[in-house]
Amino acid sequence: MEAQRLDKFISSQLAGVSRKDARELIRRGEVSVNGRTVKEPEHKLCPSEDSVMLGGKPVGYKRFLYIMLNKPAGVICATRDRLSETVTELLPEGLRREGLFPAGRLDKDSVGFVLITDDGALAHRLLSPKSHVPKTYFVGLRDPIDKNAAEDFLRGVTIDGGEVCLPAELKAVSEKECLLTLHEGKYHQIKRMFACRGNEVVYLKRISIGGAALDPKLSEGHARELTPDEVGKLIDQ
Ligand code: URA
Repeated sequence: MEAQRLDKFISSQLAGVSRKDARELIRRGEVSVNGRTVKEPEHKLCPSEDSVMLGGKPVGYKRFLYIMLNKPAGVICATRDRLSETVTELLPEGLRREGLFPAGRLDKDSVGFVLITDDGALAHRLLSPKSHVPKTYFVGLRDPIDKNAAEDFLRGVTIDGGEVCLPAELKAVSEKECLLTLHEGKYHQIKRMFACRGNEVVYLKRISIGGAALDPKLSEGHARELTPDEVGKLIDQ
């Protein structure tokens, strides 16, 4: 594993501590590495092997964070926005750190499972259409689901502008509600798939990504770290 500067390590592992704050803490003599006080912010350490303490308390090391957020409506999947609240702004203090971003988008009016991480490689695998990672949505519709929808979606439909969708699985839950599993993520895909059939999506909630399901105990607007088991299930099922 690559060596890292001490100030970068501290700010990446501790919520609400900027790089500048970390430099000050280090210069003030509050930080030790392997039991020795280190006052140089540029000091190099090996995060997985060295033990770092701040004010006498260990600074635990997590290379990456994986967070499950139950996104409410009205919030956008971005890190910063001039007008709207963003998913990373919803994170509680203890789950904040530099470099976190939403791995994939839900529309502003959609709700449910958003993965927030700083693991770029995992995000890339989840989002790449080549990976075909399934994502399942609970869909509420204005009108009854037409009888050919499941068969057509499974064959792969062409939506406006000539975009061909990969096969998707629809399971009806009621006359106007279904579970729909996609293996890709085109812009407004589910809304466009139903709009082509003269129907309209009135409610959309993502309930799983890969083999990891949205925790039913996590209410809208709340977030928690994924368990190691859930992280494994994101891609391998
Ligand atoms: N499809 C949509 O139309 N919107 C979403 O937010 C996700 C999938």
